Amino acid sequence: MTMEISSILQGGYNHPTSRSWQSQRQLTKSMLMYPIFITDEPDARVEIASLPGQCRWGVNRLKEFLGPLVQKGLKSVILFGVPVHCDKDERGTPADDPEGPVIQAILKIRALYPELYIATDVCLCEYTSHGHCGVLHEDGTINQAPSVERIAEVAVNYAKAGAHCVAPSDMMDGRIRAIKLGLMEAGLANKCMLMAYSAKFASSLYGPFRDAAGSAPSFGNRKCYQLPPGGKGLARRAIIRDVNEGADVIMVKPAMPYLDVIQDAAELAPNHPLACYQVSGEFAMVVAGAEKGVYDLKTMAFESVEGMLRAGCTLILTYFTPQFLDWLEV
Ligand code: PBG
Ligand code: ZN
Repeated sequence: MTMEISSILQGGYNHPTSRSWQSQRQLTKSMLMYPIFITDEPDARVEIASLPGQCRWGVNRLKEFLGPLVQKGLKSVILFGVPVHCDKDERGTPADDPEGPVIQAILKIRALYPELYIATDVCLCEYTSHGHCGVLHEDGTINQAPSVERIAEVAVNYAKAGAHCVAPSDMMDGRIRAIKLGLMEAGLANKCMLMAYSAKFASSLYGPFRDAAGSAPSFGNRKCYQLPPGGKGLARRAIIRDVNEGADVIMVKPAMPYLDVIQDAAELAPNHPLACYQVSGEFAMVVAGAEKGVYDLKTMAFESVEGMLRAGCTLILTYFTPQFLDWLEV
């Protein structure tokens, strides 16, 4: 009967309430940002086969889609444009078409739900003829200067339309600084948050999204701009760079295989909110495992997100948002 006092831990977590005190951070509804797909067919509601339960929505159906979620406590969304009828070109001209799906959705959501926080993903790949995230040289490589100039222009136009946040996912060098300067010049830097997809890795987990958004590159891949999965040091440099270029929020993407990078970001940018994106392939994976009977969906969805919170994030972009709004009390 001689056991060290320091060996005894179980008394501290044998009750659901004391177990909850063991977490530094509890998941709440306000930490969730819901990624939504807006198409240019105003009356559309098209299910996305590879993203179970998610649809492409037309602007005329946003009330039917978002109304019930706002009722349940939805606080923020991030918009992705999915144009099917536009003329895609070399520089992604349709991205900031005033009649296009993103700008129309910003106006509509601001009018319907003035309290709802609207972030917009900023990228060119949904709008370029070649499907890459920037403007290209003749030989198909990224042309940095016009890419950054165009991406900043799109971001400023989303901000002018009323987006509360612009979030560039293109991974071009120097775009955070260019967007920040563009917002300042437009007199919007104090009204629009800049969320940097700082550590965005070239991942296999974007497949369902590319299906949903029709944004797969027509040739090559994104390895010249998205980070290599083993690139821990590179991710740290990208985080530091984006902080110095004026990012208001840092993001790590995907989330589950990159929890160490989230922890690094929490250490490197301790004074910034820290977001992570549980991407389409992670969501599909969690859902598929539950369907196979590997685990219970709700339990696994919570466990996946609790790992992200433990690693240090304060904001989670996830397709599970509608379910979490049902599962959470606050
Ligand atoms: C495109 C973009 C991608 C995602 C967000 N913005 C895919 C890509 O880089 O090819 C992925 C989101 C997801 O998988 O849920 N810039
Ligand atoms: Zn892109």
